[in-house]
Amino acid sequence: MTDTELRVSKIEDGTVIDHITGGQALNVLAILGIDGGSGEEVSVGMNVPSDRLGRKDIVKVEDRELSQNEVDVLSLIAPAATINIVRGFDVVEKHRVSRPEEVTGVLSCPNANCITTESEPVDSHFEVLEEGVRCTYCDTLVRESIAAHISVA
Ligand code: CTP
Ligand code: ZN
Repeated sequence: MTDTELRVSKIEDGTVIDHITGGQALNVLAILGIDGGSGEEVSVGMNVPSDRLGRKDIVKVEDRELSQNEVDVLSLIAPAATINIVRGFDVVEKHRVSRPEEVTGVLSCPNANCITTESEPVDSHFEVLEEGVRCTYCDTLVRESIAAHISVA
């Protein structure tokens, strides 16, 4: 990409989540609990051209590193994402996300009678399967639109 094509400027320190499935950037922000209200410095590119994906989304967050749990949930909606850790404008670490075996918190169980929805102190816990994610407490299987079950902090 040439300088004239650069849409979102480089960041100094923080995390660049690149190669996000086109259209998923807002869900990525939800996973990270970013709603703009806490003053985080965030840049978002949506449906930008990508050699590898055709179209991709990209999210750049200043002064923030992601927890393993956030990366795990992210992998479910953006399996091709790369996480770039930036320090002093340089990419110092780059890794692909991988599908975890289980995810704790972040997703909420759609079953209103589930112990994780009824009592706040119990964190949700889902097993990650081929066909979707399954609540460990009540066995509810979420097959589609996993993003719709992200619980925003
Ligand atoms: N980036 C940024 N700020 C920096 C450094 C990099 O926003 N200070 C962004 C780049 O714009 C790019 C991503 O972080 O979207 C990864 O940077 P880099 O590894 O330099 O780019 P590529 O080699 O193109 O990455 P890949 O091979 O993963 O596609
Ligand atoms: Zn449940």
